Amino acid sequence: MNPATSITRAKTTEPQGTCYRVLMWEPSALPSEQLAEWAAQRRTLLSRMRDAGIKGSRGLLGQLENELKALTVKMIEEPLAQTERAAFSFARAEALGEALQAHDAVLAYRLGTAAAEILMQMLGEESMSDMLNHWQSATPGMSWCSEPIVQAMTAAEASVWQQESRCESDDEADTPGYTSGEFHHVTVLLNEAVEALQPAEGKVLVDATLGGGGHTERLLQAGAEVWGIDQDPSARAAAKARLAEFGERLHVVAGNFRNAAEMLRKHGVEQVDGLLADIGISSPQVDCAERGFSFLHEGPLDMRMNPSAPRSAADIVNTAAESEIADILWQYGEERASRAIARRIVQERAKAPITTTTQLADLIATVLPRKGKQHPATRSFQALRIAVNDELGALDALLQSGLSMLKSGGRFAVITFHSLEDRAVKRYFELVCKPEIDRPEWPAPRPNPAYAARLVYRKPITPTEQELSANPRSRSAKLRVIEKL
Ligand SMILES: C[S@@+](CC[C@H](N)C(=O)[O-])C[C@H]1O[C@@H](n2cnc3c(N)ncnc32)[C@H](O)[C@@H]1O
Repeated sequence: MNPATSITRAKTTEPQGTCYRVLMWEPSALPSEQLAEWAAQRRTLLSRMRDAGIKGSRGLLGQLENELKALTVKMIEEPLAQTERAAFSFARAEALGEALQAHDAVLAYRLGTAAAEILMQMLGEESMSDMLNHWQSATPGMSWCSEPIVQAMTAAEASVWQQESRCESDDEADTPGYTSGEFHHVTVLLNEAVEALQPAEGKVLVDATLGGGGHTERLLQAGAEVWGIDQDPSARAAAKARLAEFGERLHVVAGNFRNAAEMLRKHGVEQVDGLLADIGISSPQVDCAERGFSFLHEGPLDMRMNPSAPRSAADIVNTAAESEIADILWQYGEERASRAIARRIVQERAKAPITTTTQLADLIATVLPRKGKQHPATRSFQALRIAVNDELGALDALLQSGLSMLKSGGRFAVITFHSLEDRAVKRYFELVCKPEIDRPEWPAPRPNPAYAARLVYRKPITPTEQELSANPRSRSAKLRVIEKL
């Protein structure tokens, strides 16, 4: 192996137009103490980067990012390069794929999403879960985790990795609400949502956004049976692990909640006692650089909650028409400079594809000056995320089908995090809770054919001061609840 080329990050536009990185090493290539030391130093740096990001200190952030890169090169990449037992490139990913096909590989490795997808295609697997199932049976001595980071490791390796995050470059450690080594999301409006759903023994409830399982855990503790849906395999895996003690009272379902009714019907579930949706992304999704949601961390411009979804943010930015990009930024981000940003994106991508989060954030910053504390890319990133995951379309489909899944007296609770979502929920809930509708041209009000529920709370429930100070990410949360008549 040639260390000079093999230890650099593999950034390529081939074959999928995405930037990716593969880092592989044999289980014993590095002493576990060294890995633990690296993980500890990295946690400290990531925590300082988070603080700098919150304060908007771009200069300090850049300096810390460089320190982090230097640390990884010094403690991981250079020592690995000496061993000839590690590799960081697409070519090696191919080799790994071949070795796995031959069922003789006992490598510990971690792959970014894009690289795992490339492997999936190379191996002719239909889906990521099929690929993992085959690998699992090919390597019975290993424990496997699913996307976004695919990892296989021996028990000894796993114990080291458990001390840090499951994600290649996230920053949850040392952050309030995160526990080292776990997918951990601070659940928002926990008591309020649970109270609204009135969980009890014998009740069947649906958590359409299982995430880390925070709400579901409380529903299960109250004795209910829960169907938990999530489109993110890493969320499902984390929730399964966290909630294993509840055994068969928890059913984890993979998929998009836009199809919740259909998915449950396939499992023989027609009507339930309550439905919860805690819309949006989880903290691990946004904090994990590899997922590409955040402009604070360099990562591939991805933003897919479901890593198998067809269109990433990079696809939109590099292939959509200028007018489509401008519309996305305006409609989903209410970004006033949408046209100027779209124009700039199209100019830049003509020179080279825009493949990373920081590349896009820096480009937007050249169009928009920073005003106040908010980074100029905030609205554009929100907009792209909503477009990539068709978040409003999925919410709309859930709203339309939610009541049909409920028994009479069943509750439908939705937590939203921005005005576009809240507006949709508010309008729909108001519509179905009105016995009559009226129009100026009608002589008298008429019965409302959509009338099917009552508002449990007139106003949305928002986080208490206590919750806001413990978890600033809850600041824009709103809970609305209706009850089927
Ligand atoms: C805010 S988190 C939920 C956190 C969870 N309530 C908890 O307490 O741990 C939202 C989760 O919903 C998932 N999600 C968002 N939109 C979805 C959709 N349309 N279909 C399925 N899952 C979705 C995300 O992947 C994420 O894991």
